Amino acid sequence: MQIEEYREKLLEISKRHWKKAPGAKYIHKWDMYMLEKQFCVDNMNFDGVNSVLEIGCGMGMLAYLIKEQKGISDIELTDVDEFFDHTDKGGLYKDCCDVLGLKRFVMYVNMNEPMKLDRQYDMIVATRTVFDRECLEPGTIFNYEYWLDDCFKYCKRVFVKTNFAGGGKSFPDYLRPYLWWPTGPNGESLGKPRRGWYIRVDKEQWENR
Ligand SMILES: C[S@@+](CC[C@H](N)C(=O)[O-])C[C@H]1O[C@@H](n2cnc3c(N)ncnc32)[C@H](O)[C@@H]1O
Repeated sequence: MQIEEYREKLLEISKRHWKKAPGAKYIHKWDMYMLEKQFCVDNMNFDGVNSVLEIGCGMGMLAYLIKEQKGISDIELTDVDEFFDHTDKGGLYKDCCDVLGLKRFVMYVNMNEPMKLDRQYDMIVATRTVFDRECLEPGTIFNYEYWLDDCFKYCKRVFVKTNFAGGGKSFPDYLRPYLWWPTGPNGESLGKPRRGWYIRVDKEQWENR
């Protein structure tokens, strides 16, 4: 499906939903959010990747780009359960993901709890999925070590765009070798929506740290 057709479909779906439904902003600010997802796709390593799990997929726009541009059809999506019905609260996310025809299931990342996935993927990705801050008591530092150990039971590569765009002081030291803060040609920080802290790590690097 070409991008214009995809956009048109999402626009049509959004007209059936409350204008403030979760996800509506992605359609209103299409260019900005597409740029964010495109930047992620452009900076993921797809070598040897034929299957992807996206955690907290929201509207599914990242998965759309991976499917279309990388030719990967084995993509599975997760989200929290409130986004699986057709009410105003969750329907826009659900209907927009349905367009992709991908398996989508409920899964929560809870700190220090296993994800209990039932298969292997080549890569696990997440963009601003908020399990590592907004879902926690203020001041709690997410246990990335536990979560990455858990991810690597199921995959060989992890890519995360975190929701952190500040100094990054709260990240634990063990994570620093795998943190990335993208910069422009002259070392300058990029503006929104590319600005932010990313985690990019392969299983081998993690296990040999
Ligand atoms: C800010 S939205 C980002 C959506 C999408 N990844 C994107 O970049 O456009 C946060 C997403 O994280 C999901 N989420 C929230 N808490 C979660 C948790 N504990 N585990 C997994 N996903 C969660 C939400 O349902 C939502 O889809």
